[in-house]
Amino acid sequence: MAEQVHIFDTTLRDGEQSPGISLNTQEKVEIAQQLARLGVDVIEAGFPITSPGDFEAVEAISRCVEGPVICGLSRTHKADIDAAWNAIKDAERPRIHTFISTSDIHITHQLQTTRDDVKGQAKAAVALARSYTDDVEFSPMDATRAEIEFTAEVCAIAVAEGATVINIPDTVGYTTPEEYGRYFARLYELAPELRGVELSVHCHDDLGLAVANSYAGLLAGARQVECAVNGIGERSGNCSLEEIVMLLRTRGDEHRLDTNLETRELARTSRMVSRFTGYPVQPNKAIVGRNAFAHESGIHQDGVLKERITYEIMDARDVGLDSNSIVLGKHSGRHALRDALEQLGFKVEGNALNQAFKQFKEIADRKKQVTGLDLEAIVSDRVREGSARYELAWFDVVASTRHEPTAKVAITRPDGSEAVGESGGDGPVDAIFGAIRSATGVASELRQYTVSAVTEGEDALGEVTVMLRAHRRLASGQGVATDILEASARAYVRALSNALEGAAIREAEGVTAEAASEPARPGP
Ligand code: KIV
Ligand code: ZN
Repeated sequence: MAEQVHIFDTTLRDGEQSPGISLNTQEKVEIAQQLARLGVDVIEAGFPITSPGDFEAVEAISRCVEGPVICGLSRTHKADIDAAWNAIKDAERPRIHTFISTSDIHITHQLQTTRDDVKGQAKAAVALARSYTDDVEFSPMDATRAEIEFTAEVCAIAVAEGATVINIPDTVGYTTPEEYGRYFARLYELAPELRGVELSVHCHDDLGLAVANSYAGLLAGARQVECAVNGIGERSGNCSLEEIVMLLRTRGDEHRLDTNLETRELARTSRMVSRFTGYPVQPNKAIVGRNAFAHESGIHQDGVLKERITYEIMDARDVGLDSNSIVLGKHSGRHALRDALEQLGFKVEGNALNQAFKQFKEIADRKKQVTGLDLEAIVSDRVREGSARYELAWFDVVASTRHEPTAKVAITRPDGSEAVGESGGDGPVDAIFGAIRSATGVASELRQYTVSAVTEGEDALGEVTVMLRAHRRLASGQGVATDILEASARAYVRALSNALEGAAIREAEGVTAEAASEPARPGP
């Protein structure tokens, strides 16, 4: 019988700290609901003190997501812990996660304080958090670069004050699997009281070792792993959720550890996070990449055709890379659409269903078959639509290899009025982007542009991701359509909306444009 490892998902907190990610509350709730379907044990929903927007999202998730523990992050300050508690208090199972650095590098240069003060802050923070809830996690930040004796002392203080989970962060992705494993063994020796609580791993990927290090920590006794979907997070990211989960599932013979996850939801969760964050998944990404189960060489193809296990260690169906089994045609009605969406895990009713149906019909007119992957893309598109400041009304484009391409674009403003802009450009996409800038009057600079196909085949839906800089903010947007130019226009308008939304929130929060270009969060 395998021992259970708890999955602590930090996509919405550490993951959201990646440059250019600007999720609104509705998108965060959608992702949290999908994480609940996936069966994660804990959702770290955000860092409530950092902004009213973060607070609102954590509160919304706490109120409507059932199943997982909902966790709010806080420094050791009273105001942080109060904010975290107020945001999560309506959750079925709330957790406060409080942290302070134990490395001398951080204590001297960042906190500019003393070890004694760190001990006092950790003690007071855990005690205050415990006065609110029985479920309190404590992290000695930058633990792997800290003196282990001091870290053990601080962890023992946290346990004495009632912390139920002690997390050992490799904040800057510095450790190695052997060293991290030894770190846990030594911590247990220095602070035997750690055997009475759950130990947790939190590894960053600066040296590409986040999954390997997390695994080493689990082998050394930790039973919670902090990870993010697609491995997103600060700098080069966090331990990838799908990789650690499938490592545990596939090599149970080696370690007798497993999780309670419904792994068939992994691919869908990955696509949703990629769409909403604007962070594409590389084709060769383990587990969820487009090529993770593709065989190119003749020898491999031959082997797999004869017997799948010749070159596959996992079954693509076990990670959900088979959602194409749902197929609708152009004559499918509203009921069939609703049933298919329900099978995909989306409850879409009323006006939202009408909108999804309209979009489905438009696509079904141009595409022979609409698959599960197409439907997912359509519904994700609809989620983003409702929250956009600007929407694309229509565009005309004249493209030629002999003359400069030109575009005319109409944008619907939030008050329903239409603004039209015109522009030339190096190509049709560039002309469309110029026309959007002229219609909205918002200066922006394109930073990244990616096009991919939702499914295979000539009539596949195109999916475009745009990352741009406007109002001194990086923001991303994504668009789906049968026509790449339309998908591009939608993605650009959405990215612009997201940048403006972020700028407006910061303005309302009293953050200047200058400060907004700095990392917004006070913490890790
Ligand atoms: O990387 C880190 O140290 C963190 C902590 C808040 C756990 O994200
Ligand atoms: Zn982190």
